[in-house]
Amino acid sequence: MNRTMKVAVIHGSPRKGNTYKAARIFMGELALRGGVEFVEFLVPQALPMFCTGCQLCLGNPNEMCPHSEYVTPILNALLKADAIIVASPHYGGSSIPGGLKNLFDHLSFLSLPIAPREEMFSQKAFVITTGTGSTGAIKLIRETLKGWGVNRVYAIGLRMFTDKWDMMPTSKQARFDRVLRRNAQAFRRAKHRRAYISTVFMYYMAKLVIRKYIGENGYPYRYWDKRGWLGRRPF
Ligand SMILES: Cc1cc2nc3c(=O)[nH]c(=O)nc-3n(C[C@H](O)[C@H](O)[C@H](O)COP(=O)(O)O)c2cc1C
Repeated sequence: MNRTMKVAVIHGSPRKGNTYKAARIFMGELALRGGVEFVEFLVPQALPMFCTGCQLCLGNPNEMCPHSEYVTPILNALLKADAIIVASPHYGGSSIPGGLKNLFDHLSFLSLPIAPREEMFSQKAFVITTGTGSTGAIKLIRETLKGWGVNRVYAIGLRMFTDKWDMMPTSKQARFDRVLRRNAQAFRRAKHRRAYISTVFMYYMAKLVIRKYIGENGYPYRYWDKRGWLGRRPF
Protein backbone atom coordinates (compact mmCIF):
# COMPACT_ATOMS: atom_id res chain seq x y z
CA MET A 1 0.00 0.00 0.00
CA ASN A 2 1.29 3.49 -0.88
CA ARG A 3 1.85 5.67 2.16
CA THR A 4 0.54 9.22 2.41
CA MET A 5 2.61 11.92 0.72
CA LYS A 6 3.07 14.83 3.13
CA VAL A 7 3.38 18.20 1.45
CA ALA A 8 4.37 21.48 3.13
CA VAL A 9 3.10 24.51 1.24
CA ILE A 10 4.47 28.03 1.63
CA HIS A 11 2.25 30.74 0.14
CA GLY A 12 4.54 33.73 -0.35
CA SER A 13 2.09 36.40 -1.51
CA PRO A 14 0.68 38.73 1.12
CA ARG A 15 -2.71 38.33 -0.60
CA LYS A 16 -4.75 35.38 -1.82
CA GLY A 17 -4.54 36.36 -5.49
CA ASN A 18 -3.09 34.87 -8.66
CA THR A 19 -0.38 32.83 -6.98
CA TYR A 20 -2.72 31.38 -4.38
CA LYS A 21 -5.17 30.41 -7.13
CA ALA A 22 -2.38 28.73 -9.15
CA ALA A 23 -1.15 26.88 -6.06
CA ARG A 24 -4.67 25.61 -5.27
CA ILE A 25 -5.10 24.21 -8.79
CA PHE A 26 -1.71 22.45 -8.49
CA MET A 27 -2.58 21.12 -5.02
CA GLY A 28 -6.02 19.98 -6.16
CA GLU A 29 -4.52 17.89 -8.95
CA LEU A 30 -1.81 16.53 -6.67
CA ALA A 31 -4.47 15.31 -4.24
CA LEU A 32 -6.89 14.03 -6.91
CA ARG A 33 -6.21 10.35 -6.33
CA GLY A 34 -5.93 10.69 -2.54
CA GLY A 35 -3.00 9.86 -0.31
CA VAL A 36 -1.79 13.46 0.00
CA GLU A 37 -1.75 15.54 3.17
CA PHE A 38 -1.05 19.28 3.08
CA VAL A 39 0.17 21.64 5.76
CA GLU A 40 0.01 25.26 4.64
CA PHE A 41 1.62 28.51 5.77
CA LEU A 42 0.92 31.99 4.49
CA VAL A 43 3.62 34.55 5.03
CA PRO A 44 3.89 37.12 6.49
CA GLN A 45 0.86 36.01 8.58
CA ALA A 46 2.61 32.86 9.86
CA LEU A 47 5.84 34.75 10.56
CA PRO A 48 5.01 38.38 11.35
CA MET A 49 8.39 39.30 12.87
CA PHE A 50 11.37 40.46 10.83
CA CYS A 51 14.70 38.66 11.16
CA THR A 52 16.78 40.94 13.38
CA GLY A 53 20.12 39.68 12.06
CA CYS A 54 21.17 38.59 15.56
CA GLN A 55 22.78 35.43 14.08
CA LEU A 56 21.88 33.34 17.14
CA CYS A 57 20.56 30.64 14.80
CA LEU A 58 23.87 30.45 12.94
CA GLY A 59 26.11 29.72 15.90
CA ASN A 60 23.68 27.70 18.04
CA PRO A 61 20.74 25.34 17.74
CA ASN A 62 18.06 27.26 15.84
CA GLU A 63 15.69 27.39 18.84
CA MET A 64 17.84 30.30 20.05
CA CYS A 65 16.07 32.44 17.43
CA PRO A 66 14.00 35.11 19.21
CA HIS A 67 11.14 34.27 16.82
CA SER A 68 11.35 30.53 17.39
CA GLU A 69 7.63 30.38 18.35
CA TYR A 70 6.84 31.21 14.70
CA VAL A 71 9.82 29.62 12.94
CA THR A 72 9.91 26.22 14.68
CA PRO A 73 6.38 25.10 13.64
CA ILE A 74 7.19 26.00 10.01
CA LEU A 75 10.55 24.22 10.22
CA ASN A 76 8.95 21.12 11.77
CA ALA A 77 6.34 20.98 9.02
CA LEU A 78 9.05 21.30 6.37
CA LEU A 79 11.06 18.50 7.98
CA LYS A 80 8.08 16.14 8.23
CA ALA A 81 7.21 16.67 4.56
CA ASP A 82 8.05 14.45 1.61
CA ALA A 83 7.60 17.41 -0.70
CA ILE A 84 7.60 21.20 -0.51
CA ILE A 85 5.64 23.70 -2.60
CA VAL A 86 6.68 27.36 -2.61
CA ALA A 87 4.29 29.72 -4.38
CA SER A 88 5.28 33.33 -4.95
CA PRO A 89 4.51 36.29 -7.19
CA HIS A 90 7.44 37.86 -9.04
CA TYR A 91 8.27 41.34 -7.72
CA GLY A 92 10.48 43.35 -10.07
CA GLY A 93 13.99 44.15 -8.82
CA SER A 94 13.33 42.56 -5.43
CA SER A 95 12.24 39.21 -6.99
CA ILE A 96 10.04 37.95 -4.14
CA PRO A 97 7.74 39.51 -1.50
CA GLY A 98 9.37 40.55 1.77
CA GLY A 99 7.41 37.99 3.81
CA LEU A 100 8.94 35.10 1.88
CA LYS A 101 12.42 36.62 1.95
CA ASN A 102 11.96 37.07 5.70
CA LEU A 103 11.13 33.37 6.06
CA PHE A 104 14.25 32.45 4.08
CA ASP A 105 16.31 34.77 6.33
CA HIS A 106 14.93 33.01 9.40
CA LEU A 107 15.79 29.62 7.88
CA SER A 108 19.31 30.60 6.78
CA PHE A 109 20.80 28.12 9.24
CA LEU A 110 19.53 25.35 6.94
CA SER A 111 22.27 26.22 4.44
CA LEU A 112 24.63 23.35 3.76
CA PRO A 113 27.67 25.02 5.40
CA ILE A 114 25.72 25.60 8.65
CA ALA A 115 23.10 23.15 9.93
CA PRO A 116 21.22 21.46 7.07
CA ARG A 117 18.67 18.74 7.93
CA GLU A 118 19.09 15.20 6.67
CA GLU A 119 15.32 14.97 6.03
CA MET A 120 15.65 17.54 3.25
CA PHE A 121 18.22 15.54 1.29
CA SER A 122 15.46 13.24 0.09
CA GLN A 123 12.77 15.87 -0.53
CA LYS A 124 11.46 17.19 -3.80
CA ALA A 125 10.14 20.72 -4.22
CA PHE A 126 7.99 22.63 -6.67
CA VAL A 127 8.13 26.40 -7.17
CA ILE A 128 5.11 28.22 -8.65
CA THR A 129 5.49 31.87 -9.60
CA THR A 130 3.16 34.35 -11.25
CA GLY A 131 3.83 37.71 -12.88
CA THR A 132 4.92 38.91 -16.27
CA GLY A 133 8.48 37.77 -15.90
CA SER A 134 9.27 35.17 -13.26
CA THR A 135 12.89 34.19 -13.69
CA GLY A 136 14.18 36.36 -10.81
CA ALA A 137 11.73 34.85 -8.34
CA ILE A 138 12.26 31.28 -9.54
CA LYS A 139 16.05 31.61 -9.42
CA LEU A 140 16.07 32.96 -5.85
CA ILE A 141 13.66 30.36 -4.49
CA ARG A 142 15.30 27.48 -6.37
CA GLU A 143 18.79 28.43 -5.16
CA THR A 144 17.53 28.76 -1.58
CA LEU A 145 15.96 25.28 -1.62
CA LYS A 146 19.00 23.76 -3.32
CA GLY A 147 21.13 25.47 -0.68
CA TRP A 148 19.21 23.49 1.96
CA GLY A 149 20.16 20.29 0.15
CA VAL A 150 16.69 19.55 -1.29
CA ASN A 151 17.11 16.67 -3.75
CA ARG A 152 15.18 18.12 -6.73
CA VAL A 153 13.58 21.53 -7.32
CA TYR A 154 11.09 21.87 -10.19
CA ALA A 155 9.50 25.16 -11.21
CA ILE A 156 6.89 26.84 -13.36
CA GLY A 157 6.45 30.56 -14.03
CA LEU A 158 3.03 31.75 -15.25
CA ARG A 159 3.13 34.89 -17.38
CA MET A 160 -0.28 36.40 -16.83
CA PHE A 161 0.13 40.16 -17.52
CA THR A 162 -2.62 41.02 -15.04
CA ASP A 163 -3.01 41.16 -11.30
CA LYS A 164 -6.40 39.40 -11.50
CA TRP A 165 -6.66 35.79 -12.65
CA ASP A 166 -10.28 36.23 -13.81
CA MET A 167 -9.29 39.12 -16.11
CA MET A 168 -7.33 36.74 -18.32
CA PRO A 169 -9.17 35.40 -21.39
CA THR A 170 -10.91 32.12 -20.53
CA SER A 171 -8.73 30.28 -23.06
CA LYS A 172 -5.62 31.45 -21.19
CA GLN A 173 -7.11 30.48 -17.82
CA ALA A 174 -7.84 27.02 -19.24
CA ARG A 175 -4.28 26.73 -20.58
CA PHE A 176 -2.76 27.62 -17.19
CA ASP A 177 -5.13 25.16 -15.54
CA ARG A 178 -3.91 22.38 -17.88
CA VAL A 179 -0.23 23.28 -17.45
CA LEU A 180 -0.52 23.33 -13.66
CA ARG A 181 -2.32 19.97 -13.58
CA ARG A 182 0.19 18.37 -15.94
CA ASN A 183 3.06 19.61 -13.77
CA ALA A 184 1.33 18.38 -10.61
CA GLN A 185 0.98 14.89 -12.07
CA ALA A 186 4.64 14.83 -13.11
CA PHE A 187 5.66 16.15 -9.68
CA ARG A 188 3.69 13.44 -7.91
CA ARG A 189 5.50 10.78 -9.99
CA ALA A 190 8.97 12.37 -9.65
CA LYS A 191 11.40 9.97 -8.01
CA HIS A 192 14.43 10.59 -5.84
CA ARG A 193 17.47 11.33 -7.98
CA ARG A 194 21.21 11.55 -7.44
CA ALA A 195 22.18 14.79 -5.58
CA TYR A 196 22.89 17.87 -7.73
CA ILE A 197 26.59 18.23 -8.58
CA SER A 198 26.39 21.75 -7.10
CA THR A 199 25.11 20.24 -3.81
CA VAL A 200 27.96 17.73 -3.69
CA PHE A 201 30.47 20.50 -4.47
CA MET A 202 29.00 22.69 -1.73
CA TYR A 203 29.24 19.79 0.73
CA TYR A 204 32.97 19.36 0.13
CA MET A 205 33.59 23.13 0.32
CA ALA A 206 31.63 23.35 3.59
CA LYS A 207 33.50 20.38 5.08
CA LEU A 208 36.82 22.01 4.23
CA VAL A 209 35.85 25.36 5.74
CA ILE A 210 34.35 23.81 8.90
CA ARG A 211 37.43 21.65 9.52
CA LYS A 212 39.96 24.35 8.70
CA TYR A 213 38.36 27.57 9.97
CA ILE A 214 35.62 26.69 12.49
CA GLY A 215 37.46 24.05 14.50
CA GLU A 216 36.31 21.54 17.08
CA ASN A 217 34.71 24.02 19.47
CA GLY A 218 32.63 25.89 16.89
CA TYR A 219 28.90 25.18 16.42
CA PRO A 220 28.73 23.92 12.87
CA TYR A 221 31.76 21.68 13.58
CA ARG A 222 29.97 20.01 16.50
CA TYR A 223 26.73 19.77 14.52
CA TRP A 224 28.47 18.15 11.53
CA ASP A 225 30.70 15.92 13.68
CA LYS A 226 27.73 14.52 15.64
CA ARG A 227 26.14 13.39 12.37
CA GLY A 228 29.35 11.94 10.97
CA TRP A 229 29.34 14.36 8.02
CA LEU A 230 32.97 15.36 8.55
CA GLY A 231 33.68 11.80 7.41
CA ARG A 232 31.06 10.43 5.03
CA ARG A 233 28.86 12.32 2.59
CA PRO A 234 25.19 12.20 3.71
CA PHE A 235 23.70 12.13 0.16
C1 LIG B 1 5.50 45.33 -5.46
C2 LIG B 1 5.15 44.59 -6.72
C3 LIG B 1 6.07 44.51 -7.76
C4 LIG B 1 5.78 43.83 -8.92
N1 LIG B 1 6.72 43.75 -9.91
C5 LIG B 1 6.46 43.01 -10.99
C6 LIG B 1 7.46 42.87 -12.00
O1 LIG B 1 8.52 43.48 -11.98
N2 LIG B 1 7.22 42.05 -13.04
C7 LIG B 1 6.04 41.38 -13.14
O2 LIG B 1 5.89 40.62 -14.06
N3 LIG B 1 5.04 41.56 -12.24
C8 LIG B 1 5.23 42.33 -11.17
N4 LIG B 1 4.24 42.49 -10.23
C9 LIG B 1 2.93 41.90 -10.47
C10 LIG B 1 2.73 40.59 -9.78
O3 LIG B 1 3.85 39.76 -9.87
C11 LIG B 1 1.59 39.81 -10.41
O4 LIG B 1 0.44 40.61 -10.51
C12 LIG B 1 1.29 38.56 -9.61
O5 LIG B 1 0.53 37.66 -10.37
C13 LIG B 1 0.58 38.89 -8.31
O6 LIG B 1 0.44 37.71 -7.56
P1 LIG B 1 -0.63 37.64 -6.35
O7 LIG B 1 -1.97 37.94 -6.96
O8 LIG B 1 -0.53 36.23 -5.88
O9 LIG B 1 -0.20 38.62 -5.32
C14 LIG B 1 4.51 43.20 -9.07
C15 LIG B 1 3.57 43.31 -8.04
C16 LIG B 1 3.88 43.98 -6.88
C17 LIG B 1 2.87 44.06 -5.77
